[in-house]
Amino acid sequence: MHATYKQRVETVMHNLKQRGLSHLLVCDPRSIQYLTGAYVEPGERFLGLVLAEDAEPTLVLNELFTVPDTSACAVRLYSDTDDPLALVATLCDADQPLGCDKNLAARFLLPLMERDAATKFQLASDAVDDARARKDAAERAAMRAASRTNDAAMGRFRELVHEGVTEAEVAGQLEEIYRELGAQGHSFTPIVSFGANAADPHHEPDATRLVAGDVVLFDVGCRQDEYCADMTRTFFFGEPTERQREVYETVRRANEAARTLVAPGVRFCDLDRAAREVIEEAGFGPFFTHRLGHQIGLDVHEPGDVSATHDAPVQPGMCFSIEPGIYLPGEFGVRIEDLVLVTEDGCEVLNSYPRELTVIG
Ligand code: GLY
Ligand code: MN
Ligand code: MN
Repeated sequence: MHATYKQRVETVMHNLKQRGLSHLLVCDPRSIQYLTGAYVEPGERFLGLVLAEDAEPTLVLNELFTVPDTSACAVRLYSDTDDPLALVATLCDADQPLGCDKNLAARFLLPLMERDAATKFQLASDAVDDARARKDAAERAAMRAASRTNDAAMGRFRELVHEGVTEAEVAGQLEEIYRELGAQGHSFTPIVSFGANAADPHHEPDATRLVAGDVVLFDVGCRQDEYCADMTRTFFFGEPTERQREVYETVRRANEAARTLVAPGVRFCDLDRAAREVIEEAGFGPFFTHRLGHQIGLDVHEPGDVSATHDAPVQPGMCFSIEPGIYLPGEFGVRIEDLVLVTEDGCEVLNSYPRELTVIG
């Protein structure tokens, strides 16, 4: 088995043991990719990787899918008329509790529970999530490269903006630029928001046309070599008003306050607090309506919020976003988002695209 995957499986088995478990059924396709190198999107069909003490990891896969070219696990195929859960049961010890993935769908979990009333089930995907949270050297390199591409792409995206263009027209041109720059495509549906639409943090690009005086918010990311980038920049199409400047500078300072604090041992909640305090002191506290950030890697949102309720310390190898925002309904919104990677003695900021207030057009 490839040394990387062997090491990852060993880490997960160690984590499982600490939770009193010897078996885990992994269903999240990205977790399976992390542990085997094989990525399969199974749609409605069952996909599971069974990890069991003293046994080879075994992927249970519908035979309609291409069998992954990996030596990191055995593969057991089933047909559309087979019961994949019967196959899973043969790989598990019914006398031992089975660790389950948070993504194990109820349509599979409930029949599995009914098979043997004596078997106990326990949510245990954090055994994988904790391993995924601490990126190894190859993953750190991939995260850096994806964000470098995102920085380069942002320089191209702002050139697409001109009076009268719609958000959807701009958004529709981004993927080709990512591909030209060597990425696989988007890591999530891009957000392009003009003017008051930027006050909706998850606005979907629509037919709104750009007019002078609008803010232009790009929240964009590419997937490159399987790893995700995610960055937000907010530009001004024409000279900003005093209020726009004040809001922008407040968000920029909030981003900086948290970003410069990141080091091993600092708690996630302290980072959230540092950014939130800047925004509260400027009087915009009620308008920063979301957590400061999220972890990121093979998925754009990975478990472990950067928020007031997460009081664990950050650790070397963790990668997450710092994305404060101020959203003024009916007026405009500003968000500035960067990815950071915690190192052994501090942090690397993975994005270097400028954060200074920038007027375009
Ligand atoms: N694009 C979603 C986010 O920044 O989390
Ligand atoms: Mn984002
Ligand atoms: Mn984000």
